[in-house]
Amino acid sequence: MSSHKSKAIKEEELPEEAAQTSYLDKELRPSSWKDYVGQKAVKENLNILIKAAAERGTPPEHVLFYGPPGLGKTTLAHLVARETGRNLKITSGPAIERVGDLASILTNLAAGDILFIDEIHRLNKTIEEVLYPAMESGVLDIIIGKGPSARTIQLELPPFTLLAATTRVAMISSPLRSRFSGGVFRLEFYTEEEIEEILRRSAKIIGVDIKESAEKEIAKRSRFTPRTANYFLKRARDFAQVEGRVLDIETVHHALKLLGIDEKGLSPSDRQLLEIMADKFGGGPVGLGTLAAALSEEEATIEEFNEPYLLQLGLIERTTRGRMLTPHAYEHLGKIAPDNIQKKLL
Ligand SMILES: Nc1ncnc2c1ncn2[C@@H]1O[C@H](COP(=O)(O)OP(=O)(O)O)[C@@H](O)[C@H]1O
Ligand SMILES: [Mg+2]
Repeated sequence: MSSHKSKAIKEEELPEEAAQTSYLDKELRPSSWKDYVGQKAVKENLNILIKAAAERGTPPEHVLFYGPPGLGKTTLAHLVARETGRNLKITSGPAIERVGDLASILTNLAAGDILFIDEIHRLNKTIEEVLYPAMESGVLDIIIGKGPSARTIQLELPPFTLLAATTRVAMISSPLRSRFSGGVFRLEFYTEEEIEEILRRSAKIIGVDIKESAEKEIAKRSRFTPRTANYFLKRARDFAQVEGRVLDIETVHHALKLLGIDEKGLSPSDRQLLEIMADKFGGGPVGLGTLAAALSEEEATIEEFNEPYLLQLGLIERTTRGRMLTPHAYEHLGKIAPDNIQKKLL
């Protein structure tokens, strides 16, 4: 097994491409709890978990974070590692293709290491089952040989902490979920004030002078999501620079218009989804699969990226029969709502 190259790597060793796409995240990622804005409940829970473990002299228990992309799940994993002074090894569901990959990751852990598995909903079932005894009793069951002569040996693993993240908690099986003994925590959308605070810090780091009105405008349109807010900040900074303008509200309007972001912060794909629901499906109810086919989009993208924000804004709702537009959505699209949807206004 030692010949098997471990797929959990330190972040500095990420391949070129991944390193570049995550460049913005890394540059602006808070490196202390004081810079990690919001998510009060999660922070308080983690704090207790870490302190209690430290008092017992054991690694913190396993924790799962879930919520839409860009809300700070990966950042939390880094902060827990930093706070506890432990090594962080990072991998992801899609990177673990075989049982052997996971076995090699686990056997390469040192006592007290933190293993972060991102997108854990993408682990396949067989591999997931290897995790159960590892999480529960710190052992790895390995089958050696094939057929009648096959036998299972049990390897004792060093004590470790599993931190995991997912954008699709509904896909996590209940046996896996129940093994996160430290807790399963949902990350919430941020308030506009919290996003403004994040933007102020980011602006300082990238060295840009931003007017308060611009900060507020970006916050308003950022899907209540730090990653999006930071991305918009950079695009607005570029626009200001190229056009020789100050970074004020006008500049933000121009920059976001170029990106196709509307006044509610909807992206072109959000709007397309609403339009298709209105024009092709009479406002719904429509199932996820049907909607994905009509949009030529992955179901996962709709469920992870578009829907949480549209639900948060009250533009769509989920019913047992599928997704439906709300009267607000029709208002936003400048269309007349059909009777069955309009009535709900009353
Ligand atoms: N609570 C927070 N406070 C400040 N910045 C944050 C916070 N959460 C996320 N960010 C910013 O957003 C970026 C994306 O966060 P990340 O943890 O990678 O999100 P996720 O893993 O949930 O997709 C981070 O690099 C950081 O710049
Ligand atoms: Mg992440």
